Amino acid sequence: MLRGSLSIPRPAAAAPRKLNQRRDISSWLAKWFPKAPAKSVVALKTPIKVELVAGKTYRWCVCGRSKKQQPFCDGSHFFQRTGLSPLKFKVQETRVVALCTCKATQKPPYCDGTHRSERVQKAEVGSPL
Ligand code: FES
Repeated sequence: MLRGSLSIPRPAAAAPRKLNQRRDISSWLAKWFPKAPAKSVVALKTPIKVELVAGKTYRWCVCGRSKKQQPFCDGSHFFQRTGLSPLKFKVQETRVVALCTCKATQKPPYCDGTHRSERVQKAEVGSPL
């Protein structure tokens, strides 16, 4: 059989890649590491009282997207690619404190009463302020 005697159409071949051609990873980087971080969202509109143990490290949710462990981080900031990070903190003595869940406090991670403001009370849970 002679070459080219079959008349089966073949799909157009992709342009051949040059050896050692660098892949464009900028879109991949932008997807996982956004230049501008996302805004925090209102997780709840009231603080949560928790007992903090002296010397233990806590990670307070900054993004407001933590569903399982509010007011603490569950890793949602990473998987939702917010560009935000949790706030790590320790306390000197064991005590019960009110931790912010509206994410509008001026004294993170503690509640400072900002959740009572009209701005927070009118906001929807899960939406940015
Ligand atoms: S819950 Fe955010 S300031 Fe009180």
